[in-house]
Amino acid sequence: MTEKEVIDAKIQKMIDLKETAELGGGKNRIADQHAKGKLTARERIDLLVDKGTFREIDALAHHHSTQLGLDKNVPLGDGVVTGFAEISGRKTFIFSQDFTVLGGSLAEMHGKKICKIMDMAMKTGTPVVGLNDSGGARVQEGVISLGAYADIFLRNTLASGVVPQISMVMGPCAGGAVYSPAITDFIIMVKKTSYMFVTGPKVVKTVTHEELTSDELGGAEVHASKSGVAHFVAENDMEALEILKTLLTFIPQNNAEEPPFVPNEDPVDRKDDDLNYIIPANPNQPYDIKEVITKIADMGEFFEVHKDYAQNIVVGFIHLGGRSIGVVANQPAMLAGVLDIDASKKAARFIRFCDAFNIPILTFEDVPGFLPGSYQEWNGIISNGAKLLYAYCEATVPKITVITRKAYGGAYDVMNSKHIRGDFNFAWPTAELAVMGAKGAVEIIFKKEIETAENKEQREAELIEEYNEKFANPYIAASYGYIDDVIEPRCTRMRLIEAFNLLENKVDKNPPKKHGNIPL
Ligand code: HXC
Repeated sequence: MTEKEVIDAKIQKMIDLKETAELGGGKNRIADQHAKGKLTARERIDLLVDKGTFREIDALAHHHSTQLGLDKNVPLGDGVVTGFAEISGRKTFIFSQDFTVLGGSLAEMHGKKICKIMDMAMKTGTPVVGLNDSGGARVQEGVISLGAYADIFLRNTLASGVVPQISMVMGPCAGGAVYSPAITDFIIMVKKTSYMFVTGPKVVKTVTHEELTSDELGGAEVHASKSGVAHFVAENDMEALEILKTLLTFIPQNNAEEPPFVPNEDPVDRKDDDLNYIIPANPNQPYDIKEVITKIADMGEFFEVHKDYAQNIVVGFIHLGGRSIGVVANQPAMLAGVLDIDASKKAARFIRFCDAFNIPILTFEDVPGFLPGSYQEWNGIISNGAKLLYAYCEATVPKITVITRKAYGGAYDVMNSKHIRGDFNFAWPTAELAVMGAKGAVEIIFKKEIETAENKEQREAELIEEYNEKFANPYIAASYGYIDDVIEPRCTRMRLIEAFNLLENKVDKNPPKKHGNIPL
């Protein structure tokens, strides 16, 4: 053999090994994956990243186990494809579990590969995207598999609030394995092909006698609407990857950076006359707060998070004058926009994400108060409502509130009031800031007067009118400086952009501490 032939043979060996690794579990298993309506780990990466930017790491890693016949099946890559790439020009670390290899099951090397890219992401301040499609802890590698999961959970926790972590659940995700996505910032699930549960349908049937399919127990729609575990639901793998790409446009690379500025054609001084008339004359009539959000947002675009969960509060991202803004808004069109346990948890987690990653927060407030009832009290509306209050109080990013209508009771304080460090608190002329609505207030204060009146109903109506005249407006709060200005609704976009521009270099701090003790 000539010297050149020796070198060529070595290069060929490398090529062959990489080609073998690329085939994953082989053609038949890839066909099975497709038959289930799923893409393969590598196809998903190809669709996600900018063409030609993916660089794989540890393609040639494999397990070293000899247990239960594993020595006869030693696939390269060990069931997960890891590496880094650019997604719309943004550097990102990616792991994509390969169900065609040992069911994507996680064990020593599979876990080490994920930990390696997570460590690199932390050192370089780069987001991590995980594409999960796995049978869970690899049975053959026993406790080593469990240890590998714990290594990942630790890193998920340490990376939380340092680099964004996004989980795509695109297949099975069961048992303790669910806790890695659960610690990350966002979970995107795919309808029909993905599910998440701590214990599967068989165990559930044995223990509780409930008969449920995997989809009924832990499918995408269940987690998007009932448990709130999933932030986004996609029809298929392709749509899930598009959701992820859009999400990345709103968030920074890490907690030391600002989110990307997205210039656009929408004039910053655009006024919208419809906003002046969007609040119905009858204070008990609903309207859709999402209409308000889209009317003030750049290009009318609102990227909603947790759309199907706790719909009485709306959260999501917009661009405003090119800036990424997190929006939290009571939704009068659902349960009158009341705050309950789920709404409080949903908004609190979103606010904490925004605050951790330097995304200013815009609050639209129209809230009649906290939801009464034994269910709410027994299930902890006190500690759950406190989560929302705590999240707003501790947030130091620019915070602006617009009160469109009701700001009643404790909910007035909670929804980013001036007192808890709202930077600009605006009200529309239709705003009503009071301890409670007119009927409730009159029944408490004028109980005796109403009881002794000749015409009870008429007297009550008169008193309600008087109360509304006196209290159902923004001017008492304005007189105390609790709101900074009453603004014409049509000018809201312009006023918000001006205010967020002013707050661009805002500095605010919390006292030094190890960490606070949010009422979890
Ligand atoms: C080893 C596994 C595996 C696992 C699947 N496979 N899961 N191998 N360990 N956990 C293998 C299968 O043996 C099979 O190999 C191949 O992957 C494809 O699996 P199928 O069963 O043929 O696929 P499908 O019918 O689509 O069913 C998928 C499945 C099922 C529902 C995920 O495989 C399953 O129930 N797996 C076990 C799930 C589980 O209980 N995992 C542990 C969860 S607890 P062959 O070669 O036969 O085709 C957990 C703890 C985490 O994860 C701890 C953290 C603290």
